[in-house]
Amino acid sequence: MTRIRKAVIPAAGMGTRFLPATKAIPKEMLPIVNKPSIQLIVEEAAAAGIEQVVIVTGRGKTEIVDHFDAHPALEDLLRRGGKEALRQEVIRPTQLVKLSTVRQQRPLGLGHAILCARELIGDEPFVVFLPDDLVDAQVPCARQLMDVYDATGKSVLALMNVSRSETSQYGIAAGDVDPSDPRLLHIKTLVEKPSAEEAPSTLAVVGRYVLTPDIFDYLAKTNPGRGDEIQLTDALAAMAKDHGLHGWLFDGERFDAGDVGGYLLANLNWARKTPRLWDLVQQYVKSHQR
Ligand code: G1P
Repeated sequence: MTRIRKAVIPAAGMGTRFLPATKAIPKEMLPIVNKPSIQLIVEEAAAAGIEQVVIVTGRGKTEIVDHFDAHPALEDLLRRGGKEALRQEVIRPTQLVKLSTVRQQRPLGLGHAILCARELIGDEPFVVFLPDDLVDAQVPCARQLMDVYDATGKSVLALMNVSRSETSQYGIAAGDVDPSDPRLLHIKTLVEKPSAEEAPSTLAVVGRYVLTPDIFDYLAKTNPGRGDEIQLTDALAAMAKDHGLHGWLFDGERFDAGDVGGYLLANLNWARKTPRLWDLVQQYVKSHQR
């Protein structure tokens, strides 16, 4: 089995769900406590054992690249001021993985964004991280999928259960549960954002995928689908028929950081990890309870 070393983070979207905050700032740079949300994604990738990350960017996304680049003037300033811990925080994003970027020149959809990374990924399996999906887990969500891939050799995507009223916000998968592991699904059907009536199940795709490089041929053949965009889900549905595709009910808590409510909850979740901040939140809630 080829070892997984690379990942793609599509980050070319305009962030319209978050206007006006995202008028002049990439949504991936909005902070979760004191880190841009995309840093949490790259940290998950590094913790999962990923060595190289390709970020698919577009117009107005240069701050993302700057964030993962060295900043010698700032590092010097912090060193001279004796602020070593802060200096380490500034250096950290540069040390996580080897980073490259590729531009998606037109907003033709998530599937097209992944296809833009084809040359940089080459002929090896890779992980896709959708940066809106933040997952807090003991074992990084991507690592859980990589372990399934290592055991099966097939592409695998992260799944979670949602209510029927929410199916129209997600890719929805249906298939057969593996006889020896209730969390492993052999996917037979995959539909992008079906209505509650049309949804073949309530198993929603979360933005973590391990993909074999065959996906690129399927993406190249995929016609625009829902929203007139080239959908990764459609290419995966076609690939599932020929090569098989797995779903994994991952362990962990997922936050939709691309949604204002989900973003707020993500901030609370990560604030909980710093006792001083969590005390502040609790005091605030207590004093504002009706
Ligand atoms: C994308 C995918 C969808 C998936 C979702 C997870 O949709 O197309 O299949 O369920 O991410 O967050 P988006 O939310 O980018 O519209």
